[in-house]
Amino acid sequence: MAETASQTASAAKPIPFIDLQAQRARISARIDAAIQKVLTHGGFVMGPEVGELERRLAAHCGAKFVLSCSSGTDALLIPLMAKGVGHGDAVFVPSFTFTATAEVAVLSGATPIFVDVHPDTFNLDTASLARGILTARRLGLKPRAVIPVDLFGQPADMDDINALCAKEGVWVLADAAQSYGANYKNMRVGALAEVTATSFYPSKPLGAYGDGGAVFTDDEDLYRRMTQIRVHGQGKDRNENVSIGLTARLDTIQAAILLEKLAIFDDECAARQRIAARYNKILAGVVTTPVVRGDRSSVWAQYTIRSTSRDKIVALLSAENIPTSVFYPKPIHVQPAYRAFPQAEGGLPVTEQLSREVVSLPMHAYLTESDQDRIAGAVHRAAS
Ligand SMILES: Cc1ncc(COP(=O)(O)O)c(C=O)c1O
Repeated sequence: MAETASQTASAAKPIPFIDLQAQRARISARIDAAIQKVLTHGGFVMGPEVGELERRLAAHCGAKFVLSCSSGTDALLIPLMAKGVGHGDAVFVPSFTFTATAEVAVLSGATPIFVDVHPDTFNLDTASLARGILTARRLGLKPRAVIPVDLFGQPADMDDINALCAKEGVWVLADAAQSYGANYKNMRVGALAEVTATSFYPSKPLGAYGDGGAVFTDDEDLYRRMTQIRVHGQGKDRNENVSIGLTARLDTIQAAILLEKLAIFDDECAARQRIAARYNKILAGVVTTPVVRGDRSSVWAQYTIRSTSRDKIVALLSAENIPTSVFYPKPIHVQPAYRAFPQAEGGLPVTEQLSREVVSLPMHAYLTESDQDRIAGAVHRAAS
C-alpha cells in the first residue's frame, strides 16, 4: 500500500521547539569549565560570578544598577515590594501574557486590572490602559503601577506608556521576561522604564540551566531597597532585618553559565532575527505573520503566527513531528484564580480573539533552513 504524505512525514526526524543542545554543542567546553570553577571555589551563594554577571548586564543594556535574582517572577515581585505597592492599589496588567505578570500584583496585595493588547504586536494597548485607569478610580482604587509585557520578544510602546503614566502618577515596571536583548529607539531593554524585570528561565533568549532573573533600574535608592529584599530584608548584616524580604538570590552556578551565554548572546539575537525574517517571507499571505514596529527590534522569544485554521495547523504539524505551542490559549482574566478581578472598561476583545488564533512555531538561533522549510511547508498545507 502506498504511504500517504503524512505517514512519510511522521517518520521524519522530530524538530525541537527550542534546541538548547545545539547551543550547548557550541559552548559546552566553556560552560563545563565555568561550572567546574564554581565547584572548586565553593562560593555557591553570591559567589564572584554573581557580581560579575550584574556588571556585564549593566554594561550590555545601559542600566545603572542590575540586581540578579532567583526568577523572573521574583524580579517582578521585588520592585513591587520595594515600592510598597499593596492593598487599595491598582496594578494594570495585560491578560494576554504568562500568569506571573498578574500573579505578582496579587502577591503584593494590590488588585490587578486587566488591559487589552494590540492585535498586530500583541503588546499593551495604551488606549485600553487609559480606560483601565478610569476603571480603577471608579472602583475606589489608587492607580499605582503598570506592568507592560514585551510579549514574544518585542518591546511594548514604551514612550506612549511612560508618557501616560507620568501624567497619571503611575509607575512603570516593564516585564521584559521575553525581550532581554531587544532594542527600542536605539536603546536596549533594561533602560526603557523606571524598572525592568527579566527572566533567565532556560527557554528564554538568554536562558540559564535553571531558574533565574534580574531587575534593572537607574534608581540607586530603589536598588538598595531591592538588594535588602533579595535576602530577607537584611540591613547592615545578617542580624538586622530592616524590611520584609525573600530568599531570592541567583545561584552562582547559574551566573557562571549566564556569563558564558552572554558572550555569544548578541550573535544569537542576530541569528534569531534572520530566521524570523525568513519565516515572515515564506509564510506571507498564508497566515498572519507577526509585526515588529519600525522603531524597535524583537529577540523572538517566540515566533507567533495567527490563523483561523489554528487547530488544523497544530494537528498537521504534530502528525509530521513538528512541535507547536499556543501562548496563551486561556488568557489570565478567564482563569479560575483571576476571574473575579476587574477589566478595563471596553473589555478585552483583542485578547480573546488572539487566544483563539495564535500559535508559535519552532524558533531558536540554530534552526536550519531545511527544518524551517519543512515547518513552513506543513503550515502551507494546513492553512490552504
Ligand atoms: C511575560 C513573563 N513574565 C514573567 C515570567 C516569569 O519568569 P520566571 O519563569 O523566570 O519566573 C515569564 C516566564 O515565562 C514570562 O514569560
